[in-house]
Amino acid sequence: MATTATNRRVILKEYVEGYPREEHMELLPGGEVPLRLKGDEPAGSVLVKNLYLSCDPYMRPKMSRPLRESYTAAFVPGSVITGYGVARVLDSTHPGLAAGDLVWGLTGWEDYSLVTPPATKFLVKITHHGDPAGEGQRPVPLSYYTGILGMTGLTAYVGFHEICEPKKGETVFVSAASGAVGQLVGQFAKIAGCYVVGSAGSKEKVELLKNKFGFDDAFNYKEEPDLAAALRRCFPEGIDIYFENVGGAMLDAVLLNMRVHGRIAVCGLISQYNLADGERDAVRNLAAVISKRLRLQGFIEPDHKHLYPQYEAWVLPYIRDGTLAYVEDVAHGLESAPKALIGLFHGRNVGKQLVRVADDESE
Ligand SMILES: NC(=O)c1ccc[n+]([C@@H]2O[C@H](COP(=O)([O-])OP(=O)(O)OC[C@H]3O[C@@H](n4cnc5c(N)ncnc54)[C@H](OP(=O)(O)O)[C@@H]3O)[C@@H](O)[C@H]2O)c1
Repeated sequence: MATTATNRRVILKEYVEGYPREEHMELLPGGEVPLRLKGDEPAGSVLVKNLYLSCDPYMRPKMSRPLRESYTAAFVPGSVITGYGVARVLDSTHPGLAAGDLVWGLTGWEDYSLVTPPATKFLVKITHHGDPAGEGQRPVPLSYYTGILGMTGLTAYVGFHEICEPKKGETVFVSAASGAVGQLVGQFAKIAGCYVVGSAGSKEKVELLKNKFGFDDAFNYKEEPDLAAALRRCFPEGIDIYFENVGGAMLDAVLLNMRVHGRIAVCGLISQYNLADGERDAVRNLAAVISKRLRLQGFIEPDHKHLYPQYEAWVLPYIRDGTLAYVEDVAHGLESAPKALIGLFHGRNVGKQLVRVADDESE
């Protein structure tokens, strides 16, 4: 059995202004790395072989020159890009992880990663992949741990159930609704007995929302000259819950259409991520927060990691019995990762964008 392997790596070449391009990143051929720990790593280190990588919008703000404190540190030009992924443990001195285990969590955009403390606290052992599927039940693909069973899924769960506090019969609007988080929020809202409308950026995505994910209604925001009027058409009685993924003009239009005591979970503002400080959209209708007594609350998934076991136990039966539909957009090979990431900011992904890096014996 080989004791070393070639480790290709994707690095950030330079800080990004405006929209990211493939040239901002580079795939380096890399050198030989040992497939076992050498012994001089910090105690609790884990050496992994990366199998799947997740492309996430939050990676764009990390590509900007750090101007102010953020909850997540900027990438360092010349260094490997980090992100969520699914990996096989090759060697470990971490008490909870052993060679052969599968994990999801923070890793590197490379073939093999050495994860050292404190980053190891973001590695979660995968326990349900490979469970025998019961009669009429669906198996749980390993790739799901980049999305519905990983950071994306917990984000949708926390944002909708904990922040929005939905009640049966309430009206829910979701933007970027066909994406990784949005497709889940819409379906969680249906499970909760809500009326759900989504917006997305193409006819194909709108069809997906209505015909695959079970949204009650959907519209293509790019074809609506007046977003506030589109929302009035879909919600004649107003919106109780807005799951905010995009910001900008959509947020302003939503504020005009919220009902009294409505809740807005601010999950992301992707329409603003590629704009410089002076270019970002102003929110003009903020007075609605007062007049309608709205609750507008931002949140980040890492604050809620302790809810993962609860979330996993809740969502697995819905995956297995087919209640939840889940669409992935899979790019193949580490070399395709930069293009796949950039595609998020042009709406090229349909569903959860991920990259398959290597085959695994369990698949
Ligand atoms: N708070 C947290 O902890 C947390 C965790 C995960 C994600 N998020 C946030 O959640 C949001 C969705 O993330 P995701 O992973 O599910 O991504 P995603 O929706 O799968 O992909 C991004 C989508 O955003 C839409 N988009 C891109 N540029 C846009 C623009 N200028 N205006 C409107 N829509 C635009 C595109 O869809 P269309 O074709 O429909 O335009 C694109 O496909 C992001 O804002 C992300 O930052 C937050």
